[in-house]
Amino acid sequence: MTALRIEQLEAGYVRDLPILRNVDLTAEHAKLTVIIGPNGAGKSTLIKAIAGLVPVSGGRVMLGETDITGLRPDLMGSHGLAYVPQTDNIFRHLTIRENLMLVLRKSTDRTARLEELYDLFPALRDKRGDRAGALSGGQRQMLAVAMALANRPSVILLDEPSAGLSPKIAGEVLDLTRGLTEQGVTVLLVEQNVKQALRVADHCYILAEGRNQIDGPAAQIAADPVVGEIYLGGKRMVAS
Ligand SMILES: Nc1ncnc2c1ncn2[C@@H]1O[C@H](COP(=O)(O)OP(=O)(O)O)[C@@H](O)[C@H]1O
Ligand SMILES: [Mg+2]
Repeated sequence: MTALRIEQLEAGYVRDLPILRNVDLTAEHAKLTVIIGPNGAGKSTLIKAIAGLVPVSGGRVMLGETDITGLRPDLMGSHGLAYVPQTDNIFRHLTIRENLMLVLRKSTDRTARLEELYDLFPALRDKRGDRAGALSGGQRQMLAVAMALANRPSVILLDEPSAGLSPKIAGEVLDLTRGLTEQGVTVLLVEQNVKQALRVADHCYILAEGRNQIDGPAAQIAADPVVGEIYLGGKRMVAS
C-alpha cells in the first residue's frame, strides 16, 4: 500500500528557477524510505515541498488518496503528515513536557498521549522537567521525533536527524526512526549518513541535481559498487 506518492514534482524558491525537476517517489505504508544524495542535491527542498514549505510549480503530492500539493503547512498535520526539520525542531527554552504539551494542545486525550510518548521514549520521561536546550544532541532528536509523532501522523518526514551526532548516537537515532515503522508509521528520511541510513531503510532513492537518479531496495543499493562510486563518493557502501 502506498502512503505517499510524489509525481513529476517541480519546485523551487524562485519563480521559473526550479530546484527539483520531474521528481517521482513512492513511500510504502509502514516502511522506511530514505533519500540520499550529494550536498545541494535538493533533498531538503523535496521534503519541504512535500510539507508545503516550498512552492510547487508542477506535479503533485498524494497522501494516500488525498492531493495535498501546496497545502498550507499548518494544515498538513490534520491530514496526517508530520515534518521534522533538520534544525530548530524543538523549543529550547521550554521543558520537555512543555514541548510535548504544546504539540498536544488540540488533543482531546493529551494526558494519556503524553504517557504513551513517555513509554515509547523513557529517556524523555526521566528528563521531563528539564529544559530541552539542556538535552544531549541525541535526546534532542528524540524529543523532535516524539513531538512529530504526538498527534499520530500516518507519514513522518525527517530531514537528517543524525546530523552532528557521534556515530554511535547517530545509529541510535536511526534505529529510533526505524522503530516508528513498527508503530505503523510511514517514514521518509533524508540522510547524509549513507551507510547507517541504508542499514535501517527498506527502500532508497538517490537524488542529484534536483532529479531522480536511481532507486531500489536499500540492501541492493548498499551492495552496488557502481552506485557507490558514482553517487556516494567512491566508497563501496556495504552495510556492516
Ligand atoms: N531558501 C533558499 N532559497 C534559495 N535557494 C535555496 C534555498 N535553500 C536551498 N536552496 C538551493 O537549493 C538547492 C538544493 O538545496 P537543498 O535542498 O538544501 O539540498 P540538500 O538538502 O540536498 O543538501 C541548492 O542549490 C541550494 O543552494
Ligand atoms: Mg539538506
